[in-house]
Amino acid sequence: MKNYQDDVRVGLLGFGTVGQGLVQGINLQIDNISSRLGAPLKIQRALVQDANKKRVVGLPELTTNARDILEDPDIDIVVEVMGGEQPAYDYIKQALGQRKQVVTANKLLLAQHGPELKALAQRNGKGLLYEASVLGGIPILRTIQHGLCGDKVEEVKGIFNGTTNFILTRMVELGEDYPTALRLAQEAGYAEAEPTMDVSGLDAACKLVILCRECFDLEFHLKDVTMSGIEHLDQRQITLEKRQGRIPKLIACAKPQNGEIQVGVQWLPETDLLSRVSGVQNALSLKTLLAGELFWSGPGAGGLATGGAVLGDIMEAAERVLTERDTVFQQTGK
Ligand SMILES: NC(=O)c1ccc[n+]([C@@H]2O[C@H](COP(=O)([O-])OP(=O)(O)OC[C@H]3O[C@@H](n4cnc5c(N)ncnc54)[C@H](OP(=O)(O)O)[C@@H]3O)[C@@H](O)[C@H]2O)c1
Repeated sequence: MKNYQDDVRVGLLGFGTVGQGLVQGINLQIDNISSRLGAPLKIQRALVQDANKKRVVGLPELTTNARDILEDPDIDIVVEVMGGEQPAYDYIKQALGQRKQVVTANKLLLAQHGPELKALAQRNGKGLLYEASVLGGIPILRTIQHGLCGDKVEEVKGIFNGTTNFILTRMVELGEDYPTALRLAQEAGYAEAEPTMDVSGLDAACKLVILCRECFDLEFHLKDVTMSGIEHLDQRQITLEKRQGRIPKLIACAKPQNGEIQVGVQWLPETDLLSRVSGVQNALSLKTLLAGELFWSGPGAGGLATGGAVLGDIMEAAERVLTERDTVFQQTGK
């Protein structure tokens, strides 16, 4: 294996739950990562809003100026884990313009601007990788792109949002009403103080759009998704349905051949595999032409699990960086 002298350097845009989970994940296996890569991996610095905020993990350098990352010629890979549409959209465009590899976990941004950003990355000969944007710790995009490249996905169905699954599990199993279960999800750190993106179905819809683009090789937009959330479920309805052996789950599903792409509550029989996915877990079932029905479940969020998915993308981006360095070395001798 080649041994490259120079570090592969990473700049983080954001150092919150995912950014810190990523660094924890790297610290847990740093030697392993360097030997797998054949070069040391170094987190150069991270962009934050408040450099004085207390963090679980220390980084040598934090900055509040995005240019310290986007315009640093030593940084090879920019990792966007700040969230939201702006300024993340501008920063990713600038990073690609500066010919850096880009990794992002930002589902909202990708659902809205994914095809445009991918095209920009392609024009600049750089990668835009986003495994963590769909189902956090379940490595599904790489599985579809590589493991299933000889098969054809026909249907997608799953539980794509852990917060709403946690709330629904409590409503079904403990008889809590919606406001109580939501408050407990917030206290446990699973739901935001402003929970609309999760409970309205928008978070699941973003992931469905990104996944459908990978599975069906068609244009999909957020406006194509028929979407409803869990806010209007009440305990009386749940009790009635439970008597019939059905429980509510927020299901994202797509059958493009029938023009169906939707997120909403479905009442599933208790025997359905998806009914057994409880708490903050996510799950996905794919129906494919050759393999038939495939099923995954696991953590859809959380610093370490999502950080691990980001790290997988960083490893792939780092290999591209090293290959480029090798090509330049062969052409120029430096
Ligand atoms: N959390 C998860 O489990 C999870 C799972 C899958 C995907 N994701 C995605 O990962 C991304 C990050 O999520 P997160 O949970 O890590 O978010 P978070 O905990 O809120 O962290 C966001 C980080 O970005 C920084 N930031 C935000 N806006 C900024 C701005 N305008 N300028 C400079 N810094 C800014 C914040 O700085 P301060 O620390 O100074 O406030 C913070 O460090 C999101 O796109 C999310 O959808 C998250």
